[in-house]
Amino acid sequence: MKTLLITRPIAEAVIDQARELFDVTVSETGALDEAAAEQALQSYDAILPTLGDLFSAQAFAGAAGNMRCKMLGNFGVGYNHIDVAAAKQAGVLVSNTPDVLTDATADIAMTLILATARRAGEGERLVRSGNWGGFGPKDLLGTHVTGKTVGIVGMGRIGQAIARRCHFGFGMNVVFYNRSAKTVDFPATQLPTLADTMGAADFVVVATPGGAATTHLIDSAALSAMKPSSIFVNISRGEVVDEPALVAALEAGQIAGAGLDVYENEPVVPDALKAMDHCVLLPHLGSATVETRQAMGQMALDNIIAWSNGNAPAQSV
Ligand code: GLV
Repeated sequence: MKTLLITRPIAEAVIDQARELFDVTVSETGALDEAAAEQALQSYDAILPTLGDLFSAQAFAGAAGNMRCKMLGNFGVGYNHIDVAAAKQAGVLVSNTPDVLTDATADIAMTLILATARRAGEGERLVRSGNWGGFGPKDLLGTHVTGKTVGIVGMGRIGQAIARRCHFGFGMNVVFYNRSAKTVDFPATQLPTLADTMGAADFVVVATPGGAATTHLIDSAALSAMKPSSIFVNISRGEVVDEPALVAALEAGQIAGAGLDVYENEPVVPDALKAMDHCVLLPHLGSATVETRQAMGQMALDNIIAWSNGNAPAQSV
């Protein structure tokens, strides 16, 4: 029987199915650091890793010579924690879990747009504090969402799902920035530059992949294109945003607020962000529904099963 390491507890049904086919180890000690990733590459035929497990070039280099692993079936659409070039060079296949988390992640983007615009975090804290004095005509006034302009940065599957919600659900005008030309089947205007998009939007939503190509795409220059009344939302990867530049823009009142699901050094969230009431901060919940996490686990396992049967995983990267 081939050995399989599942690096975090996932849906029981998926683990049970895996146990029928593989000699399974489920790690309960949190994300794998580089040394643990290197050791795992030397110890298991296949690995089902997820965000935070550091399958870096160094981990592959360290495992070389004693490499056992042939397949990384990642749990997650984003795989910026895996050096895919180093994996390929080491003869290790990599797959991911697209599509199944698109709607859940788009829903979290809407949660952040609405919660930030309507000051839901502040309101929640006020109710729980016991200090709410009752309805006040001028209390906790937020920003209207319906009919405003959303600027999507990265019009892939998730970006489009957010744009659809904004257009069809909230009557919003959709503009977007995407590296390549993109045609979508609902009203949306592709703008030539990132700055054009950031400048036109009342809500900027970042939905690009992570990785070297997008690291600090959103820097102080990009943020300075935004209107002082506009709100910034990130549901992609923390590294896409220069976090100190975002903090500075918020502190200077250069932008009106931020809704964040991801951070540069998770789980570290800068105290400066936590101190600002006009930020809504979620703990990387994009795909966190029972249904979606079950589907992600199943897809990750199906890819590993395909590899094990000598077939190409359906979601190879
Ligand atoms: C979650 O962030 C994922 O990449 O699946």
